[in-house]
Amino acid sequence: MNDTLERWGSKRAFILAMTGAAVGLGNIWRFPYIAGENGGAAFLLLYIAFVLLLGIPVMMAEILIGRGGRQSPVRSLATLARASQASPRWRYLGLFGALTVFCILSFYSVVSGWSIEFLVASINGTFEGQSPQAIGAGFEAFLANPWLLVFNHSLFLFITMTVVAAGVAKGLERLNNFLMPLLYLLLLVLAGYGASTDGFGPALGWLFLPSFEAITPTVVFHAMGHAFFTLAVGACALMAYGAYMPEEQSLTRAAFAVALLDICVALLAGIAIFSVVFAQGLDPTQGPGLMFVTLPIAFAELPFGSLWLSGFFLLLLLATWTSAINLAEPMVATLTGMGWRRSISTAAVAVSVWLLGVLAALSFSTLGEFRPLWGRNVFELLSSIPPDVFLPLGGLLIAIFAAWVLPESQAVESLGAGSRGYRLWRATLRYISIPLTLVVLVGGVLALG
Ligand code: PFF
Repeated sequence: MNDTLERWGSKRAFILAMTGAAVGLGNIWRFPYIAGENGGAAFLLLYIAFVLLLGIPVMMAEILIGRGGRQSPVRSLATLARASQASPRWRYLGLFGALTVFCILSFYSVVSGWSIEFLVASINGTFEGQSPQAIGAGFEAFLANPWLLVFNHSLFLFITMTVVAAGVAKGLERLNNFLMPLLYLLLLVLAGYGASTDGFGPALGWLFLPSFEAITPTVVFHAMGHAFFTLAVGACALMAYGAYMPEEQSLTRAAFAVALLDICVALLAGIAIFSVVFAQGLDPTQGPGLMFVTLPIAFAELPFGSLWLSGFFLLLLLATWTSAINLAEPMVATLTGMGWRRSISTAAVAVSVWLLGVLAALSFSTLGEFRPLWGRNVFELLSSIPPDVFLPLGGLLIAIFAAWVLPESQAVESLGAGSRGYRLWRATLRYISIPLTLVVLVGGVLALG
């Protein structure tokens, strides 16, 4: 039985859906703060290298498996494993992907909830005329309010799961068509504003002039995790989307286009945010609050600042929405693939993600000192271990499956790059992506303990 008869309406729709999955909090919120904590330019350099050496080839592998199987990740893997005379256990990779997106979506929904709160605050003009100190203190006070955090998390999850319940191809296509271009435009405006501040020069230096002493094993480890996270690779989430990909579309071109766009968005966000950080003498290493504090500060000074800021948070919210839908899809697809109704599967996923998300939300107040592992609280664990460990591990297994298990005859046609292109891609996976991921992952995990 083929349980995903839906298809994206066009090639453009598929690219937009992939970009919608890739571009989100990872680019605009996570990239600046992780880069800030990990040496700026050194991090950026490594992250771009990882996108090229691992991100793009593994992304291609993931979509190829999805398109080859045309079912939920678990069933696509099972079908292709059977056709390749490999172990049926490969299907557990789909379950591991579902576990990964489960953890990611729970904290993702909490942070997206912050955007809802900030959208409302900027519409109300809350930040106008406030000093940077007051804006910083306001953010701290917001985090310390468990009810507000849980409320916004619930709201965000609700709007996400409503689209998922309707079936992603239909729901998303219309949304993506105009949202993504609008987001790019607004980011360009923001970066343009950054360019007009005194912080622009220092921001460019901080982002683009690496000091090589800053490259430590931890920075390498975080950069690899972030490359997977920002491209949405390693959790079988793109595999779930690949199942709806049109037959005639070139996978290689799609992967490169999405990666390029994704990097550009991160760079624009980085330029906009770090310009303000340096112009205002803020701390680039301040962590998850970085974007939520710097942007209101920048806009508090501008004419029509509240209007711009509201527009920005609205688009950010929409970008995270499309990513969250992608995060939810593999879980829902797994359950529907087991014969569950779509509505029931969506509800089950929503409730479980909500519960874990509540624990993440409370980590800023009541549960702040509950640190079950490596001295990290629930939010810190969820926002670091799944991106840094689970995604690369999932990506590694996907790469092994595509490069060593799938026979050439299965893959070559699906890739749409001819047999020379196929060989090049497979060699990149076999001799670069797989060993590199393995080494960085093992090193990083050993350093965790
Ligand atoms: N790529 C998304 C972002 O940058 O916000 C996050 C994400 C989506 C990660 C889907 C993993 C995933 F499977």
